[in-house]
Amino acid sequence: MVYPYQIQSFADYKKAYQQSVDNPEKFWASVADHFTWRKKWDKVLDWNFTEPKSEWFKGAKLNITENCLDRHLENNGNTPAIIWEPNDPNEKQRILTYSKLHEKVCQFAQVLLNNGVKKGDRVCIYMGMIPELTIAVLGCARIGAIHSVIFGGFSAQSIADRVFDAQSEFIITCDGAYRGAKDIPLKNVIDDALIGNKTVKKVIVYTRTRTPISMLKGRDIWWEDEMRHVEEMGIHSLPAVEMGAADPLFILYTSGSTGKPKGVVHACAGYMVYTNYTFVNVFNYQPGQIHFCTADIGWITGHSYIVYGPLSAGATSVIFEGIPTWPNAGRFWEIVDKYKVNILYTAPTAIRSLMGFGLWPLQGKNLSSLKVLGTVGEPINEEAWNWYNEQVGKNKCPIVDTWWQTETGGCLISNIAGITPSKPGWATLPLPGVQPVLVDDKGNEITEMEDGVYKGNLCIKFPWPSLLTTTYGDHERCRTNYFATYPNLYFTGDGALKDEEGFYRITGRVDDVLNVSGHRIGTAEVENAINMHTGVIESAVVGYPHDVKGQGIYAFVIYNNKEGDEALIRKDIVQTVSRVIGPIAKPDKIQFVNGLPKTRSGKIMRRILRKIAEGETENLGDITTLLDPGVVEEIKKGYL
Ligand code: WT7
Repeated sequence: MVYPYQIQSFADYKKAYQQSVDNPEKFWASVADHFTWRKKWDKVLDWNFTEPKSEWFKGAKLNITENCLDRHLENNGNTPAIIWEPNDPNEKQRILTYSKLHEKVCQFAQVLLNNGVKKGDRVCIYMGMIPELTIAVLGCARIGAIHSVIFGGFSAQSIADRVFDAQSEFIITCDGAYRGAKDIPLKNVIDDALIGNKTVKKVIVYTRTRTPISMLKGRDIWWEDEMRHVEEMGIHSLPAVEMGAADPLFILYTSGSTGKPKGVVHACAGYMVYTNYTFVNVFNYQPGQIHFCTADIGWITGHSYIVYGPLSAGATSVIFEGIPTWPNAGRFWEIVDKYKVNILYTAPTAIRSLMGFGLWPLQGKNLSSLKVLGTVGEPINEEAWNWYNEQVGKNKCPIVDTWWQTETGGCLISNIAGITPSKPGWATLPLPGVQPVLVDDKGNEITEMEDGVYKGNLCIKFPWPSLLTTTYGDHERCRTNYFATYPNLYFTGDGALKDEEGFYRITGRVDDVLNVSGHRIGTAEVENAINMHTGVIESAVVGYPHDVKGQGIYAFVIYNNKEGDEALIRKDIVQTVSRVIGPIAKPDKIQFVNGLPKTRSGKIMRRILRKIAEGETENLGDITTLLDPGVVEEIKKGYL
């Protein structure tokens, strides 16, 4: 494939950016022209941020899998679409060419049809990182079913909540998943999630670990049996279902500052165009290159830059089942060497954790195939950036620092590899189509520099094609969460700086959302989980700086019974959180307190707790408005 919309120089970027602002509709139409449509659009964009609504390529008909699979068959059918590296390096890798992937996706789509899945139905997917996960995702998209992938680190309760919220009648899972030295019993977790559930009709189970599992007659069916039937039917391809541009492609749940996770919805056309555009441009992808994104497909990064972006571009995408540190900390470098990876896209937390092992894991690994490095998920500290640059990139690979969110679908602010300048710790310039603005707490644009930079809350003032279209089943929540804080702006929840060159540096969340190892966790969610533990009266959760995770979870807990083994109670509370949300939300520190700093109106002053959790004892700011300033002294004394 060639990409006529690939940016070739800094001047070219500036030109594209200007065009995208001057005439967004014309700009995006010229990109969208290079995709496969059943019918082209009547109008490129119909939007307002009050409803909110941003309908891209209105009136167009398409199926994203024709763009990810069918259109590559003629010239690139034998190109590897997926290279799969198993958890155990001694197990054989699998390579699926575009032809093979197309066949498997079609066959699995037929399996879904055979089991009564229809266009618009929601299908939950809870699997490990195996090619079948991609086949399941694309199989849904083939027939217009809406996939909702749930990361393997979420608990049965979290799955039950998501199944309920999306009203899913179908689930796709595995018996188990391998992750490092562990086997994760995925089907057991699904079984727990479905206790008492009367709406789920079918659970399709792929055999990965062949661990003993329960298989309920009438509900649970084996993936392999179903695929065999389809094979026996002689089916090797299946026409894609025609989708409207605005039809939902998938739901992905993500945490916010309040309540339960929201189901972020992305629509077919805009998401396709934007993930492809950003994949090709940000990484400066050249046909034939091997792209290795280390994220899990359970997060947006995996959706956009393992599956849809690379495949729609005809690229070769590496899927890695395991973890970076097993059987040893050289695993990523071994994979880069083994498959001659050209683009490596990972998270700062992974880099920091690998840095901690020193240089021996890199020894003897040939990394000379690397051309581009990328990071995502959290701000990258200079030390990690330098290590990545020197030890991995050998000072010759541009590093793209890509800022974006589940809701944005694709990268919004990032340098373009080898084309636009990089600046360690800075995501740098907005991509074409993206119009950021920094505002103060009242929503006024920041016009004055402070210490040489503009500083404010990061908003975007114009839609781009992969902006979320709604939050599933509750459009009002979408409006209040993202479009109501500041009128006529999409509010990201992040704070940022902008320098005199217009480069952005993301400083982190300004709301009550934590970023733990690049995973988003709402403090309210963790508090709700802790409060469910018997004996807990009240809790407050804040983040604190953590060397590897970026942020750790610090919980202040009022517990009703002082007797007993504190260490044990802490472990019990951690278990409760693990049950309610999942192991990813376990608090790192739990401090028992007698009271929480509250205002006279009863609001917890997190600002103070955040300071204490950071180890600050002196400058806690104004505490005179506290109901009982005495609690602060006690909390300071108990700091862990
Ligand atoms: C939040 C979004 C984007 C996919 C992975 C996370 C933080 C993301 C960066 C970056 C600084 C970053 C932000 C954002 N974030 N990328 N390059 N530099 N911060 O997706 O779970 O939706 O989280 O991650 O705080 O709001 P997510």
